[in-house]
Amino acid sequence: MNVYDSERMAEALAVAGYQPVNAPEGADMIILNTCHIREKAAEKVYSELGRLKPLKQANSDMIIGVAGCVAQAEGEEMIHRAPMVDMVFGPQTYQQLPDMIDDLDAGRRAGTRPRLVRTEFPADEKFAALKAAPRQPITRAPTAFVTVQEGCDKFCTFCVVPYTRGAEVSRATTDIVEEARALAEQGVCEITLLGQNVNAWQDRETGLRLDGLLGQLGEISGVERLRFTTSHPRDMDAALIAAHGANPKLMPYLHLPVQSGSDSILKAMNRKHTADEYLRLVAAFRSARPDLALSSDFIVGFPGETDSDFDATMDLVAAVSYAQAFSFKYSPRPGTPAADHDVQVDEAVKSTRLARLQERLNAQQIAFNQEKLGQTLPVLFEKPSRQPGQMSGRSPYLQPVHVGVDAHHFDQLVGRIVLVKITGAHANSLSGELADG
Ligand code: 5AD
Ligand code: SF4
Repeated sequence: MNVYDSERMAEALAVAGYQPVNAPEGADMIILNTCHIREKAAEKVYSELGRLKPLKQANSDMIIGVAGCVAQAEGEEMIHRAPMVDMVFGPQTYQQLPDMIDDLDAGRRAGTRPRLVRTEFPADEKFAALKAAPRQPITRAPTAFVTVQEGCDKFCTFCVVPYTRGAEVSRATTDIVEEARALAEQGVCEITLLGQNVNAWQDRETGLRLDGLLGQLGEISGVERLRFTTSHPRDMDAALIAAHGANPKLMPYLHLPVQSGSDSILKAMNRKHTADEYLRLVAAFRSARPDLALSSDFIVGFPGETDSDFDATMDLVAAVSYAQAFSFKYSPRPGTPAADHDVQVDEAVKSTRLARLQERLNAQQIAFNQEKLGQTLPVLFEKPSRQPGQMSGRSPYLQPVHVGVDAHHFDQLVGRIVLVKITGAHANSLSGELADG
């Protein structure tokens, strides 16, 4: 979501005459786009600002902005705590950037130093602005994100998102299809639909759900692959499950966070589903699409989590077998219900549990990668690998795939889906050779 938002900010700023540079030194403006999901993420922003201080001291005309959910949550407080910051603005305000810069410039011309805080929630206005400004991606790539839904009404007791991103809002079908079509015309062949609760997406006028939207997007000429993230188990419906067997453009990869395998922890988290309901969903998906790769988010050390609660998470992982996963120690977020719980889990216990969980998840990821050895997979090539002489792309299962290619074939491969024979399986990627030589 933040990668997507940064691209939109760069586009809004292009209208005001700015263009991206590769380093902060010498820049006229620096914007930190921030994440507030865990505590360390917020602290990182303040230390990053500290590192930028000499640049601001050397050039007081430089504009320093903080965007994203830390900005949304800190608001005025950030203005006080970080005197070098000129503007603090939340995720729903990016289309106002040219206006904000006008305000800063006008103030400076009048000899004052205005400092702006914009943290209101006009999500509809943001979607309207996306529509008004057709996308001109600054970096040409064969893959693109398209936001279809913003915000969250679920109020998991550990999570700040409902407070920082606001209530669930869905973007209109026609706007999404129009944006996807424009991207396809620019050579994008893989589209990932984004939303904090992407499978809660619903067209307000027609009632269309995500399966129907994916169907429409799959018809656009040039769109070869569709993905979506992140889903909530509660919002899954039979039609979306069936789409995984029926829509040939929909890739066999599903990020479906479970957070914990213990029913009492799931209840305390306000996830509104049990471990068994999650397992039954997974089984339904796998019967629609047997080769589906599953991924999840996990939190260990949620307040009150006992050894047997944690064992239930380990059991669920064993039962599902994930292709990929993200796992975190519970981090108390001020203002969320779980932060005030009186039985917080000891840091050392959290660390031990996280290490055990990650060991199991990593082993599953390696096993999933190894299953692909000897198979021939369609790979969408995206860019040269870091290793010279290699191109990298993605398998249908979102695995990075590296392939040795003659330098003069590089340009031909970018943006094409080509069959690759998999000859190497590593912890985080695959390697192979072009199947037709
Ligand atoms: N502590 C730890 N992890 C968290 N997440 C969200 N809030 C917290 C928190 N307070 C994780 C969840 C979510 C992912 C995006 O971040 O697993 O799915
Ligand atoms: Fe946060 Fe839960 Fe909403 Fe996901 S569903 S964004 S974890 S509150």
